[in-house]
Amino acid sequence: MSYNIAIDGPAGAGKSTIAKAVAKELGFIYVDTGAMYRAMALYLIRKGILPEDTKEMEKACEQADISIVYQEGSQQVLLNGENVTGLLRQEEVGNMASVSSANGRIREKLVELQRQLAARENVVMDGRDIGTCVLPGADVKVYLTASAHTRALRRCRELEEKGIPCVLEEIERDINERDERDMTREISPLKRAEDAVLVDSSDMGIQEVKEAIIRLYREKAGK
Ligand code: DC
Repeated sequence: MSYNIAIDGPAGAGKSTIAKAVAKELGFIYVDTGAMYRAMALYLIRKGILPEDTKEMEKACEQADISIVYQEGSQQVLLNGENVTGLLRQEEVGNMASVSSANGRIREKLVELQRQLAARENVVMDGRDIGTCVLPGADVKVYLTASAHTRALRRCRELEEKGIPCVLEEIERDINERDERDMTREISPLKRAEDAVLVDSSDMGIQEVKEAIIRLYREKAGK
């Protein structure tokens, strides 16, 4: 039977960095479910579908085949066979994903894919609804968060390192809007599972958070 670690939390809390590091140390596979929603969003953008056009969105998503492969341990997302991994971190794609991920049919498709992966492999899976909906029986559940200001600062630093100019206030406003959408949507809103351990990373380094999660795993798994 596979071992599953679920990490949920808002945008910019450091989920992917932490989940990747934990997966590497434990020899598990890292599954970035946000990237799957982003690939679907990219498909919708390319099709010219507007965020408010729910009916068109539902129709179009049936034509999007999303799958995951691993190259040298790193997750690659294929959209109808094309590797779109490098295109997924753009703000436009993230903003569309935040809207389109509230769509029930899109969630159904992607949750199915996520469950299949977790049943086959030992995974560290990050997202918004992993502990509450995708893998309610996960062995370890973590709700990783940080203040909106800290998260905006981190995102700005990330963009500046890539040479992309940014305005902190705009990023913080986007983060707050995205949190609001993710937490108040009808289907699978972002919330802490009752049995998830709350970790606030505002004043913690990556190493510290990683070690806290590995400790939880060792306690639970008796290793
Ligand atoms: O983590 P991220 O920013 O790459 O996620 C992109 C969007 O997808 C985000 O607005 C929330 C949504 N998402 C979701 O609804 N459920 C998940 N399991 C992962 C992401």
